[in-house]
Amino acid sequence: MDLNQTSKILITCAKGISPFLEEEVKCLGKTPVSSHETGLVVNGTLLDTYKLNLELRTAYNVLFLLKEFSCSGPDELYRKAGDIEWEDIIPPNEYISVVSQVNTPSIKNSMFANQKLKDALTDRMTRKTGSRPDAGPERENIVINLYWNKNLAWIYINTSGRKLADRSYRKIPLKAPMQETLAAAVLVASGYKGKTHFVNPMCGSGTLAIEAALIALNKAPGLLRGNFAFMHLKDFDNVYWRNLRKEALRASGKKTDFKIIATDIDSSAVHASICNAKTAGVDHLIEFKACDYLDTEIPAGKGIVILNPEYGERMGDVVKLAATYKEIGDFFKKKCAGSTGYIFTGNLELAKKVGLQASRRIPFYNGDIECRLLRYEIY
Ligand SMILES: C[S@@+](CC[C@H](N)C(=O)[O-])C[C@H]1O[C@@H](n2cnc3c(N)ncnc32)[C@H](O)[C@@H]1O
Repeated sequence: MDLNQTSKILITCAKGISPFLEEEVKCLGKTPVSSHETGLVVNGTLLDTYKLNLELRTAYNVLFLLKEFSCSGPDELYRKAGDIEWEDIIPPNEYISVVSQVNTPSIKNSMFANQKLKDALTDRMTRKTGSRPDAGPERENIVINLYWNKNLAWIYINTSGRKLADRSYRKIPLKAPMQETLAAAVLVASGYKGKTHFVNPMCGSGTLAIEAALIALNKAPGLLRGNFAFMHLKDFDNVYWRNLRKEALRASGKKTDFKIIATDIDSSAVHASICNAKTAGVDHLIEFKACDYLDTEIPAGKGIVILNPEYGERMGDVVKLAATYKEIGDFFKKKCAGSTGYIFTGNLELAKKVGLQASRRIPFYNGDIECRLLRYEIY
């Protein structure tokens, strides 16, 4: 397959993150041609997808469009998918995985669409190469995505494979961890660029502090991952990829002049954060401490303080947490003057207890939970 052939690249993300993904994509020199709640589209080549996979902090998957067509039913899907020259894209004997999102009256179950597309692909590969690719659910090798809406269908090569949110540093996730891509989007939304202090009391498994350290170092998150689906494509350009990695390594700095502080009252959370930061190669940049958030050091000078307290699922928790949220307001006023304070929460009623006027309320989703990143100017 021609690596310089231009097509549409769909970059997906979690609901609500698209404006921050757009900022990142523009910084990489790409102009989105359209955007929606869970992603955006740019034009580019398969080689461009290598860089997007390497650099993007807030994206889930980078999908390269192979074919867009009208499709009235499963037989038409089989026929038109079978016209794609799969033997030029996929090496013989590769393991493939098909993922479908289907919203069409002609088919009830997306598994059936998966099966039809997989059959079209493997039947053609068998005819053309003499060997039949293995197929299954693992997303480590070749991944093909089908979107089928009413009578229009799109087939993409998923160049990421596993979600880019999985940076492989979080070996100890603890309970209620923030997804890595969400943490990165929260940092982008907070305006953090690694040029101020960053303080994260209630750090849990350390995701926000680790993502902040990666930003401060200008370290591409893809450097942490050894496997992307594009590496399994037939014409994978290993030399180009190795050069991109080398460039990214050269661009990442050795240290930051600003402090990154992560604390939690639970010492096992601090232990998990340290282990995770070590795996990400940024433990030397973060000062960890097991303590109540009220005792967290707030360095003098400009800084960003982000807290992600529990939201409370049971009523009893919510009553207890109301006092904590009120106390956070006092903590901001008394200890964080000069910094910008943020609370990330999925409970808007609890947020009202903070007792400070939020200057911004940025909507996010943590899974299905509607959340807000609340910004407080502290004078
Ligand atoms: C929702 S979790 C944070 C999750 C984190 N953002 C992550 O990605 O893993 C809330 C954390 O606040 C901590 N916490 C609760 N009360 C605290 C307090 N008074 N002082 C410090 N930490 C506290 C809990 O131990 C828990 O780890």
